[in-house]
Amino acid sequence: MEGAHQIALKVNGIAHTCKVESSETLAHLLRERLHLTGTKIGCDAGTCGSCTVLVNGQLRNACITLAALLDGAEVTTIEGLSDGDELHGVQQSFVDNGAIQCGFCTPGMVMASIALLKQNSTPTDAEIREAISGNICRCTGYTKIIKAIKQASSVRRTHE
Ligand code: FES
Ligand code: FES
Repeated sequence: MEGAHQIALKVNGIAHTCKVESSETLAHLLRERLHLTGTKIGCDAGTCGSCTVLVNGQLRNACITLAALLDGAEVTTIEGLSDGDELHGVQQSFVDNGAIQCGFCTPGMVMASIALLKQNSTPTDAEIREAISGNICRCTGYTKIIKAIKQASSVRRTHE
């Protein structure tokens, strides 16, 4: 799969047609070309979860997802969650619970939380821990993040 490829995809509901190189990652496409810098790059190797997005409703690490394979895909990033000025329920819960310190892990953590709550609207602490096990946070110690996800599940404000 050498050379450039033309792909058509939707990002946060907006259609884009892009020419991408074989080696270009979704993280690069999002950040450098579509200017959606909410998706963070930490390890750039698929291990920290900072770049977590949804592709066709499934969690993906954008840093190891080749853009050329995404023709026809629907991608949701952290920028696609809020409704105007109103934060998504999970985002609001992170704010309300002080689950954000430096914020670097937060977009990926929120995307992983949304994917969890779509599958399981009443997760236990253990299920939450498991669901965010691919997302590394260096600041919070995870306690407030788990509390935030728990609260988001109980207020059922997820509108993903
Ligand atoms: S930047 Fe993608 S998993 Fe770390
Ligand atoms: S808030 Fe800093 S890495 Fe999680």
